[in-house]
Amino acid sequence: MTIRSLTVPNRVVMSPMTREHSPGGVPGADVAAYYRRRAEGGTGLIITEGVAIDHPSAVDSPDVPRLHGAEALEGWRDVVAGVHAAGGKIIPQLWHVGPLWGAMAEVDPSIAPMRPSGLWGGPGHTYYPSDYVERASRPTAAMTDDDIEAVIAAFARSARHAMEVGFDGIALHGGHGYLLDSFLWAATNTRDDHWGGDVSGRTRFPAAVIDAIRATVGPEVPIFFRFSQHKQQDYAARIADTPDELAVILNALVDAGVDVLDASVRRFDAPAFEGSTRSLAGWAKHLTGAVTMAVGSVGLGTTLQESLSQGQAGALDNIPELLRLLGRSEFDLAGVGRLHLADPSLTRRLRDASPLPEFDKQLHQLRLH
Ligand SMILES: Cc1cc2nc3c(=O)[nH]c(=O)nc-3n(C[C@H](O)[C@H](O)[C@H](O)COP(=O)(O)O)c2cc1C
Repeated sequence: MTIRSLTVPNRVVMSPMTREHSPGGVPGADVAAYYRRRAEGGTGLIITEGVAIDHPSAVDSPDVPRLHGAEALEGWRDVVAGVHAAGGKIIPQLWHVGPLWGAMAEVDPSIAPMRPSGLWGGPGHTYYPSDYVERASRPTAAMTDDDIEAVIAAFARSARHAMEVGFDGIALHGGHGYLLDSFLWAATNTRDDHWGGDVSGRTRFPAAVIDAIRATVGPEVPIFFRFSQHKQQDYAARIADTPDELAVILNALVDAGVDVLDASVRRFDAPAFEGSTRSLAGWAKHLTGAVTMAVGSVGLGTTLQESLSQGQAGALDNIPELLRLLGRSEFDLAGVGRLHLADPSLTRRLRDASPLPEFDKQLHQLRLH
């Protein structure tokens, strides 16, 4: 499949997964070897873990890699070279945590979180501990116009760095309640200026970021955008109550320059709206005509949230259903997260129809393998 300048040999995508194995934000030889093994295992496209953009409150953990600074960029150059040498393709997921600043580590209190309206989220169900939620829920200052301009420029700068070190495209984390998503979500964006208001107004900030990135990387580089209904702050949250609302958001993103819509859900084939069996990725394709990626529990019987609490996720052969939906072009790409941690050669297994691996929560804690 070809998406602008990117040609992938198959439809299996390694979904972005934070690993926190890059001390000081610098990906080392172990990170390069980890990604290279997935390329050697046949995965068509690797989307890296979330990578901090060049902004002070982008990511709080010191072990999450950055996409700025000479040392980190040198590290990425080696990661990309290793994946390319193995015949793979790799794009970085640009990340700003926005309202969730302080969720992964203690933060410098002099650095302000970036929140559209100073709000963390609604009172919904989340897996964060109550002491963190209590702290995070205290209102902070809303982003100023200068803040907004600085973040847009930081995204563009990091996209330029991504091109300099040889990545094959750009992915944006626009889901799960982080910064871009917090503009889309009515609970965190109550602004009444240019950057808020109705669904269309709430989409302007992510669209402006995409616009700036497109202007930086040029017309040939593919841009992926991950979006989600659910938030880390509230599993039941939604950015769009109806397909019509979703159409407004997604078409604005595509008009701004997105090539691939990555619909993040717990189960790739779950119906997105009442009255239809169509998945969220299916709706994204139906409403925009863009290339779309589905993700969530491919090959697994329990969702990410369930396996985090229960420890294990047994294999489930839902591959025939995945192939059926790909075959009728409900969506175009299949994102796989946890099973890529369980087995670097997952794609080869899928091709050979070998038994699927199981996922164990311990895989989160282990060194990269
Ligand atoms: C350890 C771990 C870290 C994750 N980190 C990210 C991340 O940095 N960015 C992101 O968009 N999603 C992240 N996710 C979500 C995955 O990309 C994926 O959407 C989710 O795990 C569902 O796919 P799966 O059921 O195949 O695991 C993470 C998931 C796991 C298991």
